[in-house]
Amino acid sequence: MNKITIQKILELKNSNKPFATLTAYDYTSAKIVDSTGIPIILVGDSAAMVMLGYENTLPITMDEMAIFVKAVSRGANNALIVADMPFLSYQTSVENALTNAGFFIKECNANAVKLEGGDNVIPQISAIVQAGIPVMGHLGLTPQSVHQMSGYKIQGKDENSAKEIIKNAIAIQNAGAFSIVLEGIPTELAKIITEKLVIPTIGIGAGQFCDGQIQVYHDILGLDNTFNPKHAKQFAKMQDNSIEAIKTYIKEVNSKKFPSEKNSTTLNPNVLKTIS
Ligand code: KIV
Repeated sequence: MNKITIQKILELKNSNKPFATLTAYDYTSAKIVDSTGIPIILVGDSAAMVMLGYENTLPITMDEMAIFVKAVSRGANNALIVADMPFLSYQTSVENALTNAGFFIKECNANAVKLEGGDNVIPQISAIVQAGIPVMGHLGLTPQSVHQMSGYKIQGKDENSAKEIIKNAIAIQNAGAFSIVLEGIPTELAKIITEKLVIPTIGIGAGQFCDGQIQVYHDILGLDNTFNPKHAKQFAKMQDNSIEAIKTYIKEVNSKKFPSEKNSTTLNPNVLKTIS
């Protein structure tokens, strides 16, 4: 086991080579992602949508997230595991934020937590960091504020909102976060923030100038053809491949090609005689 440290993540900022990170939600996907050497696995609250079928990320609970974080921590030995704090697990008070962040570390084996927001969550970030828990920030298009934003809209397009995001990024860094996700903001704004910060920026729908990128497992593997957002690219067609494989399985069962002798066990002839 060679667990990636926060120090290593901070060093990625100066490596001049963009790094890829990915979400995972269960033991098997975590094992697959971890085997690639990816430095960070985010157990995103996107689990609400891709694993549980909710319409947005708002309904997922700490208990539901805990199941995913524990499973990922069993599957990934090397990547730094970041647990996403679900809606209202940290916005309500500093004490709640600390209790819930601590739960992910103590009970679920996460190595860090992520939370969305800017100046509204600075006290929470400070308190969690001071307790010794690494924090990843998340600015721009923050999906837990979908109603406040009137939908999943690119943020920071005008002067005031761009300046606000820059100010919040600096405040998150000053509060002690070790990295920041920049989601759904213009490329140029992400570049300016990346150049201003000493901690790595990790973009999703924020262009090519971030220090790293984050994507959702299901999106890059093409596991759901009904959802193909602009910020993602399908590097595989796993929904099509899965359907094809399942159809072949059905065909082989129907035609008695599967299971074959190779997949079966035969009875000792003496035993067979006694029971037939
Ligand atoms: O929940 C999630 O998967 C995320 C990433 C897309 C950044 O927050």
